[in-house]
Amino acid sequence: MTVEQRRFRDVVGTFPTGVTVVTAPGPAGLTTNAFTSVSLEPPLVLVCFDNTSRTLPAVRECRRFAVNVLRAGQEELATLFASKAVAEEKFASVTHTVEHGVPVLDDALAWMACEVVDLVDAGDHTIGIGRVNALEASEGEPLLFVRGAYRTVAD
Ligand SMILES: Cc1cc2nc3c(=O)[nH]c(=O)nc-3n(C[C@H](O)[C@H](O)[C@H](O)COP(=O)(O)O)c2cc1C
Repeated sequence: MTVEQRRFRDVVGTFPTGVTVVTAPGPAGLTTNAFTSVSLEPPLVLVCFDNTSRTLPAVRECRRFAVNVLRAGQEELATLFASKAVAEEKFASVTHTVEHGVPVLDDALAWMACEVVDLVDAGDHTIGIGRVNALEASEGEPLLFVRGAYRTVAD
């Protein structure tokens, strides 16, 4: 890693985010924090996929993905889905259902089932813009990520 890349990560990493597992039919899935809502009408969100992600081809092919928002205490799940373990191993650690054609992880804090409206090249990543077709949220606290570490909300 060059000095500039490290500095980029360090500076960008001061911005706190939640942690999501983005899943696609297969099933396939990866941990992401480059997620944001984009538009209310229509309801759009975006996820940035590293071009080396093995989940990205599944998203390209199926034109669908789910965003599963992790809750406090799901650090191990985040670490597993951030690994290069085979998808079978990732999904053996957590039960899931299929909602609107996409895998939804049991016990996620919230989920959004999306259909891809655009995949945009952006440097070494691809921005996946999804239209939200279904969504749910439950009670509880989110898992946070800031300065390279998992954190929880402290009021
Ligand atoms: C906290 C955290 C956030 C991450 N955010 C992203 C992200 O936004 N986009 C991405 O492509 N990879 C992200 N990653 C890395 C992927 O999870 C990792 O490359 C994973 O192995 C990809 O899995 P796959 O090849 O099975 O798709 C993140 C990792 C961690 C630990």
